[in-house]
Amino acid sequence: MTSFRPAPAWLADAVFYQIYPQSFADSNGDGIGDFDGIAERLDHLAWLGVNTVWLNPCFVSPFRDAGYDVSDYLAVAPRYGSLDDLAKLVDEAGRRGIRVLLDLVAGHTSDEHPWFKAAAHDPTDDRYIWAAEGRPDGFVPSPGTRPGAYLPNFFAFQPALNFGYARANPAEPWRLPVDAEGPRANRAALRTIMDHWLGLGLSGFRVDMAASLVKDDPDKTETAKVWAELRHWLDGAHPDAVLLSEWGEPEVSVPAGFHGDFFLQFGGPTDGLALRSLWSNGEGTVNESWDPLDCFFDRSGRGSPRPFLEAWEKASTALGASGFISLPTANHDFSRLNCGPRTPEQLPAAFAFQLTWPTLPAIYYGDEIGMRYLPGLPDQEGSVLGPRYNRAGSRTPMQWDEGPNAGFSTAAPDRLYLPVDPSPTRPTVAAQRADETSLLHLVRRLVSLRTHTPQLGSRGSVEVLHAGHPFVYLRGGRYLVVVNPQEREASCTHDGARSGVPLEADGVAVNGSTIAAEGFAYGVFDLGPDR
Ligand code: NOJ
Ligand code: CA
Repeated sequence: MTSFRPAPAWLADAVFYQIYPQSFADSNGDGIGDFDGIAERLDHLAWLGVNTVWLNPCFVSPFRDAGYDVSDYLAVAPRYGSLDDLAKLVDEAGRRGIRVLLDLVAGHTSDEHPWFKAAAHDPTDDRYIWAAEGRPDGFVPSPGTRPGAYLPNFFAFQPALNFGYARANPAEPWRLPVDAEGPRANRAALRTIMDHWLGLGLSGFRVDMAASLVKDDPDKTETAKVWAELRHWLDGAHPDAVLLSEWGEPEVSVPAGFHGDFFLQFGGPTDGLALRSLWSNGEGTVNESWDPLDCFFDRSGRGSPRPFLEAWEKASTALGASGFISLPTANHDFSRLNCGPRTPEQLPAAFAFQLTWPTLPAIYYGDEIGMRYLPGLPDQEGSVLGPRYNRAGSRTPMQWDEGPNAGFSTAAPDRLYLPVDPSPTRPTVAAQRADETSLLHLVRRLVSLRTHTPQLGSRGSVEVLHAGHPFVYLRGGRYLVVVNPQEREASCTHDGARSGVPLEADGVAVNGSTIAAEGFAYGVFDLGPDR
């Protein structure tokens, strides 16, 4: 295995906050969120205690996939502001101890990118994957004077950048080796892009579809080599920066060169269940190919923490101290926590778990107030992928206040990127800031507890005492965590349990070795240093 420089020390303490820039905060009343809007809300993020923001793509784009169709990697989308506005945001975030990560769309461009426009007219250009004649399966007809067809990476308008094929096939002459000219130029381009933004003070990237680079690469060996090369360069040129992959298989992506990977709604055979087995209750964003399952954070009590534990044990054992796994509450492609039959009273236990598990927590904007996934929204910039695979419901405007636009400046509601949750009882930041019993205050206290208690962080040990209802584990040999996501009460006994000082608890009683939890209860207890 290649050896990389250890991850920068700050990453172990990261609490991520994902911002979908379109929908976070609008400073100029055009209905679309922007950099100045985010900058104006940095105090909220600092108050919440998160220290690393990841922004979805904010580059020049025709926005047919919400910005994941980049037409200029080195310039920001005017709708979000200017380069200076981004620089100011990064600077002001830094003064509050908050790092900012951008999204690197490594595997494809927009079909409006100048590279693609050139390739569509030049049969010798190999920056993209081009079949000289006909239209092989999965290819899209050439839009230019160049004959043949190109391979898309996701939507048809997202042509795959050519990083070569792991295997040749004489019947498919478009399969170039990884060291052909185009693949080499594309690898160099990734370096240029990273260097550009890191030089401006950004702290790293979430890398879109990181596993997709080299084609026909079933064990990902060749794709891993691309990332290892980039990581070696990064280790020397920008040792304080991080790369987090959208891969969903940390035991593959971290050895490849990533500092961390996410548990995702998809991924390897075990890892691919990690997130859904916790959160996905069959409503919200559902890919038809997903087998139905009973998730653990469900009132029925039918789910179990075991699929998650299996994925986590496998990945964390493989990683050791070489990298990190991040556990998101949700993301822009997947349902929010507050979705379908799940009700707000179920959310505290979910956060109590997410913020005390030794993964790096990632809070999806708005989940800290329990924003609801809105079903049935129309397609917006490519959000609808299938009948039940609608991503728009997780992308609605951040609910800052009770006003008609939820705080989105003076924009008319019909100009908003997506509609605001119309419910009269929709949660807002303003109301929850004023209410110390709110989810927002709980999330803040849990973040603070984690930040001030190394044993509860990513490097503290964990011992599972009961993998059921309630779910019970011990962090750092000292902090007992109990969560009972189901509606019914549940209890268990374990010799390792005993009563301690409740640091954050609701509905959990520890009596001797017996742990009794009411429905939806959670608790974090300090058992003292002498264990
Ligand atoms: C994954 C991104 O998260 C998603 O939003 C996007 O549509 C695809 N990659 C294509 O870039
Ligand atoms: Ca705006």
